[in-house]
Amino acid sequence: KGGKAQFVIDAGQKHFGTTICKSCGMIYTASNPEDEVQHLQHHHRFLEGIKYVGWKRERVVAEFWDGKIVLVLPHDPSYAIKKVEDVQELVDMELGFHQVVPMCPNKTKTFLFIDEKRVVGCLIAEPIKQAFRVLSEPSATKECSRAWRCSDVPEPAICGISRIWVFRLKRRKRIARRLVDTVRNCFMFGCFLNTNEIAFSDPTPDGKLFATKYCNT
Ligand code: ACO
Ligand code: ZN
Repeated sequence: KGGKAQFVIDAGQKHFGTTICKSCGMIYTASNPEDEVQHLQHHHRFLEGIKYVGWKRERVVAEFWDGKIVLVLPHDPSYAIKKVEDVQELVDMELGFHQVVPMCPNKTKTFLFIDEKRVVGCLIAEPIKQAFRVLSEPSATKECSRAWRCSDVPEPAICGISRIWVFRLKRRKRIARRLVDTVRNCFMFGCFLNTNEIAFSDPTPDGKLFATKYCNT
């Protein structure tokens, strides 16, 4: 690694280069007024979006020392649906997804990882019938990071993961892993799904790294 990256980090501490907000996780240039305005806008919206006050009848499907997983189903009260929509909007903004319409909206299951009073992880799952296995090596075109090679032979699958997201400041704490474990346990009543019965749709580079690791361990 060259000296340049180090310079940026040093400068960041002196408010010249990039800074990461400790509450909302946005990376921005503190010395740039435009960036600061953008940050403030994102900051309030984001913190409002992930705020979780607790519901009287929440469906807790897993509990851990550092949080719990709550399942939201399509016919739940409107405050629960609203929260899921707000979180999905933030996730889609971060992922650059635009209006992906679920295939069976009345069969979608959303799992929220809650820590203290925030939603710090989200997984959206829906029933599927088949999936195309991602082949291990990425395609030759480096610029197009989503162009993983897929097999053209469909294989039967049960559960499609259309979104998985963890709050930037909470990554690499096994939150995504615990969300997927929970989905495998709760998606179909009475059985624990095998890793080849779940499929990640259109994974990002992060998603691919996670999925590869998850499915091999
Ligand atoms: N780089 C390399 N390995 C990784 C990464 C990464 N960015 N993320 C996870 N892994 C691997 C590691 O081996 C990790 O274990 P380790 O920390 O002990 O080494 C293992 O996967 C388990 O990781 P978790 O801690 O459970 O994953 P995390 O909670 O950090 O969440 C996620 C991973 C959801 C991909 C997160 O990075 C994220 O939200 N990224 C931005 C959104 C995104 O790209 N989501 C995927 C979209 S694709 C889709 O939705 C179908
Ligand atoms: Zn912020």
